[in-house]
Amino acid sequence: MMDFLNEKLSLGIFPTPIEPMKNMSKELGVNLFLKRDDLDEFLGSGNKVRKLEYLLYEAKKDSCDVVLSAGGMQSNHCRATAYFSRRLGMEVELFLFGQSEMQGNLLIDKLLGAKVHPITHEEYANVMELMNTRAKELEEAGHRAYVIPPGGSNATGLLGYASMTKELKEWEEKHVTFDYVVCATGTAGTIGGLELGKQIYDEKFQVLGINVTKKDATQLEEKMKGLLNDFNSKYGTSFEVKVPEVVDGYVGQDYAVASDEDFNVIKEVALKDQVIFDPVYTAKAFKGMKDLIVKGKIPHDSNVLFIHTGGTFGLFAFAKQLQSYLEG
Ligand SMILES: Cc1ncc(COP(=O)(O)O)c(C=O)c1O
Repeated sequence: MMDFLNEKLSLGIFPTPIEPMKNMSKELGVNLFLKRDDLDEFLGSGNKVRKLEYLLYEAKKDSCDVVLSAGGMQSNHCRATAYFSRRLGMEVELFLFGQSEMQGNLLIDKLLGAKVHPITHEEYANVMELMNTRAKELEEAGHRAYVIPPGGSNATGLLGYASMTKELKEWEEKHVTFDYVVCATGTAGTIGGLELGKQIYDEKFQVLGINVTKKDATQLEEKMKGLLNDFNSKYGTSFEVKVPEVVDGYVGQDYAVASDEDFNVIKEVALKDQVIFDPVYTAKAFKGMKDLIVKGKIPHDSNVLFIHTGGTFGLFAFAKQLQSYLEG
């Protein structure tokens, strides 16, 4: 039963710690905890490790020697994919859009010898097609390619956060029960996995995703439904296709564009609880969660778990902007 939960590699250090955010809890009037998924690996750090344990298991099982994936130039997912693929003896090709400054994640991709295909925003809209074409070329040249969609979000990737839910259940048995679990939502594989995990482990907490993309919440909810349907088809299961709420309004000007509001959150959390967030995902999600607490959507005295999904290397791509923010 549910053998698919065990069909994975062991790439990260799990379970990750759950820590109280003492000072932010006082400030906000809730019992706030942090799931430290930023501590699950060093070069792999963040929410992608859990997804890649399942995805790269498939790649190895299928005897692949090249892994393809895609995202922005500062994609955390691509950096983690490059790192683990190389560690497992596979080559990596990444299709990346945006500014190609040698910083943060891109710098690590290059150090790890990933082959980067720079693409435009327009090309990114059809990136699965681009990757499938390249995979065909590679296969014709005698390789075996494994294609991972952006963010590692497909049926198999959902298993990362579905299995993480077990860690929450075990922790809750010894400590407190969470009323809310909050995370940044990009390609929706993390939040979709949590929904699956809730059903597998019979958890009752409410999941809230904070949208950090330019898509609207309805589009992300549709994406999640698609992922859950794909999951049921692939694994022959009949999980209910219901989706947790995704909240709009906190992305700011655009995906991966940071403002002083986001830097305020990074600075506040660093000073109060000595945790570093990134400006693309975790700071925006934390800003959203704070606002939901202030507005009473998350009631006072609730037990709230915020997932630190990583992104720390991406922070360094904002060094200049942060310097002018900090120095005035
Ligand atoms: C640091 C970080 N947090 C959150 C997310 C969002 O996760 P998902 O794409 O599964 O919604 C991502 C990736 O997109 C990420 O890199």
